Amino acid sequence: MILIENLKVTYRTAAGPVEALAGVSFAVERGESCAVIGPSGCGKSTLLYVLAGLKQDFEGKVEVAGRTQIALILQHFGLLPWKNVWENVALGLKVRRLPPQEVERRVSFWLKNLGLYELRYLYPAQLSGGQCQRVAIARALVLQPDLLLMDEPFSSLDALTREALQETLLEIWQETRCTIVLVTHSIEEAVFLGQKVVLLSPRPGRVVAVYTHPLVGDKSWRHHPDFHLACTRIRQELSRAGEAKTG
Ligand SMILES: Nc1ncnc2c1ncn2[C@@H]1O[C@H](COP(=O)(O)OP(=O)(O)OP(=O)(O)O)[C@@H](O)[C@H]1O
Ligand SMILES: [Mg+2]
Repeated sequence: MILIENLKVTYRTAAGPVEALAGVSFAVERGESCAVIGPSGCGKSTLLYVLAGLKQDFEGKVEVAGRTQIALILQHFGLLPWKNVWENVALGLKVRRLPPQEVERRVSFWLKNLGLYELRYLYPAQLSGGQCQRVAIARALVLQPDLLLMDEPFSSLDALTREALQETLLEIWQETRCTIVLVTHSIEEAVFLGQKVVLLSPRPGRVVAVYTHPLVGDKSWRHHPDFHLACTRIRQELSRAGEAKTG
């Protein structure tokens, strides 16, 4: 579904070039869930912008399978403040000129599924951070994407809501068989959701390791002994990569 070879991204700023990604290579199979984890500023959001086609100024090779319907959930939600919850979620479908009944059906389905239906006439400024996050998720899912790109979609949720939404995401993934690339800071989240976990070094991001977790999708995976081993391994690898960087 996705093939990335030697991807390099450099931002040009008034203070000189900032190298964000320095030669990243990995692949994601169709239907696979891939988590990308790495320290703040290592280029994770940049990687998603490239995959979404929003950043075209890069070196290296990036291939996304043809005719892929892509949805991107931005780190800061990207909600329109002057539109209410319903309108924000319906936006992408209206742009695609879907028939009004179909817009109605998909939007109410996802608002109900994500516990937002009662809030549908409120505006983003009237919502909590976690509610905004769910609106951003609903807005992506109504598009019925084949490729779902998510930039820390659960970061402003409390632990229990976060776990519940991770499980909802797994169900959606299993039902729709979409491909997922999820950026996260949370080791547990990466291991719970990522059949493949790509670990990036501090900026400029390079791939330090790639792990596979065949039990992802199984609800009991979080309580499996191997789950904790996998988390420990990634924690050690991340701190080793950080130390190598600082000296
Ligand atoms: N538009 C830009 N212009 C200049 N530099 C940028 C720009 N966007 C990002 N950067 C720099 O590129 C690097 C990577 O940024 P990016 O947002 O991809 O990191 P990230 O891994 O998503 O970080 P975080 O985990 O904090 O969200 C950072 O050092 C950042 O300062
Ligand atoms: Mg980011």
